[in-house]
Order: sequence, then C-alpha cells, then structure tokens
Amino acid sequence: MNVLGIESSCDETGVAIVHTTKGLLAHALHSQISMHAEYGGVVPELASRDHIRRLLPLIEQCLDEAQLQRQDLDYIAYTAGPGLAGALLVGASVANALAWALQIPAYPIHHLEGHLLSPLMADPQPPFPFVALLVSGGHTQLMRVGGVNDYQLLGETLDDAAGEAFDKTAKLLGLDYPGGPALAALAQQGQAERIELPRPMLHSKDFDFSFSGLKTAVLTRLRAAEGEQLVDEQFRADCAAATEQAIVDVLVAKSIAATQAAGVQNLVVAGGVGANRQLRAQLKEQAAAKGIQVFYPPIEFCTDNGAMIAFAAAMRLQHGLEPDQQGYGFEVRARWPLYAA
Ligand code: KG4
Ligand code: ZN
Repeated sequence: MNVLGIESSCDETGVAIVHTTKGLLAHALHSQISMHAEYGGVVPELASRDHIRRLLPLIEQCLDEAQLQRQDLDYIAYTAGPGLAGALLVGASVANALAWALQIPAYPIHHLEGHLLSPLMADPQPPFPFVALLVSGGHTQLMRVGGVNDYQLLGETLDDAAGEAFDKTAKLLGLDYPGGPALAALAQQGQAERIELPRPMLHSKDFDFSFSGLKTAVLTRLRAAEGEQLVDEQFRADCAAATEQAIVDVLVAKSIAATQAAGVQNLVVAGGVGANRQLRAQLKEQAAAKGIQVFYPPIEFCTDNGAMIAFAAAMRLQHGLEPDQQGYGFEVRARWPLYAA
C-alpha cells in the first residue's frame, strides 16, 4: 500500500510517499527558515500561507519521483497535532480534500509519534522495547516505547524545551534564528568550563527537565560582563559552549537513567536537537559504558519532515491500526499529549 504523508505543523512543509513493505519511495521538503529569520522566530500566519503555496507542488514532485499517479495512493496521512493550529489546518485540509477526491482514507497522525518511530527508518533499526528521548523546539520528553501505539511517558520538561533553550540563548548571544545549530557552531570556538552554569534538575531523581533558568543564568552573566566591558567574540563563544554543555549534560544523564530504570538496553534520540554533535558524542560514550545502544533517525529525518508521518501511518497500518477518523471531517489539535492518544 502506498501512503502519502503530509507534515505542516510548524515551519517545514514535508511530503513523502512510503510503501508499507518497500519503505520510502520519495520525499520532498521545503524549509521556511529563511522566511522567518527576518523576524527572529516563526510567524504563524506566514507559516500557514507558505504551506498553502508549497504543498501541492511538493506532492506532485513526490508522485513524479516515486513514478506513481495520484490514483496509486491508498492512504493520505497528515500531522493532526500538536503544532501551530493554522499551519496544521493547511495540511489537514489538503490531505482530506485529496483523500475525498480519490475516495481513500485520510489518516491523522500525532507529530511526536512520527518523531518517535523515525529511528526505525534507519539501518540498523532499534528493536522494541526502547526508551526515546524526544528533543525538539517544542518538546522534551522521555518515553518508553513498547511497540507501535504503546507509549508511556517517563518524564518531560516543566517549562522550555531543549531546542527552545538553545534558540533563546542563541538570541541572547546575537545569533540568528533558528539558534540551535548556530549556537552549536559558535560553541566549537569556546571553552565551556570558563562559564559556570547550572545543570537544572540534574539530581531531581525523576525524569523531568527544566531549561528556562538556563537562559536567565546566561543573561545574568552577559549583563555582568557587559558592565565590565568584557563581552567579546571569545566570551560569546564560551557562553555558547557552556550552554550547550549544560543542556547536553542533563539530557545525557536523564536519558541513561531513564533507560536503565525502564529496564531496556536501547535508547533512541529523535527531534531536531538530536542533530547536535556534542549530544551524540557524549551519549555514545556514556551509553556504551552502561551497555546501552543508541539509535538515531537518518540525519535528514531528525528535523520535521513528511517521511516520518507517512512512515508512522504505514507502521500503524501494518499493525492493523486503521485511522480513528471516519469520513473526511477533521479537527487539528494545537496541544495533544501522545500517551493519552
Ligand atoms: O524537531 P524540529 O525540527 O522541530 C520541532 O518540532 O520543534 O526541532 C527544531 C529544534 C530547534 O529548536 C533547533 O534550534 C534545534 O532543533 N536544533 C539544534 C540543532 N539542530 C536543530 N539544537 C542544537 N544543536 C543542533 N545541531
Ligand atoms: Zn518536530
């Protein structure tokens, strides 16, 4: 069966076609980053309008690449939440209209389920059960994944997401949106130990996170240094390195502790922050010492994309899970906990 996947929850328009047994046939992505960069963050209304412009050409592009006709599609999967309501509505409308025209089912998919199952697109695949660290601009969660549709929340952030902490601190350091990759690049020139930053909730004995205090701590250091005219390129790089190190230390320690507490040997990392090299290096080293194997999605599927949505729907179908949605009436959910889904 051919499943078309549509992702439009934030600032990436993603489309892909996955075959339930042959795997990924085509994928195409348009990133809105340069459009939003001018404003220092995602402007929801602009995001929605751009999804409208991009979706149909991207769908045509994927059909061409997979050498399929529209009539060859069997399901149309789309991100139904969580995300920006207007942006989600664009993907949901296109998916349902196309599904209605073709008289095939539309399949609403949870964005985080897409991220969570995305490491299964890689080779080797992580075996179930595994613990997943979901780290994106909007979410930081640790989940126990027993199988498809078997998700248990172990812990999550109480305030800012890890990606948000990267982005907000990057802004303080004068870096462009999205700040995560820019901060990571600047951090390579810096020395983390020169700036002491807190490791929020490192010893809280649960699997929750809190990152909002980190940007305040950096702001305080910056203000103090500004007063003494000590802010130069090296100081900014040191702040970047210290911030990255603080976030990575907490993510690594909690992920390993959660994996051990869940009694499993496999850890998967998904979401945009999973692209961070420091996080990958530190996890590799520390997980190996505890006999834990770490898995990632293919690098191009770490950030938002249509392939993970089509793939999640294909996996659900293979496990006999048909869409809950009847007909072509739809709703999107800006907030939507996965574990209660
Ligand atoms: O999963 P994603 O593409 O979108 C959301 O669903 O949020 O994640 C985007 C987030 C942004 O906060 C971005 O700054 C962060 O991932 N990010 C990184 C890196 N690459 C992306 N953060 C740190 N280091 C990176 N290399
Ligand atoms: Zn995402």
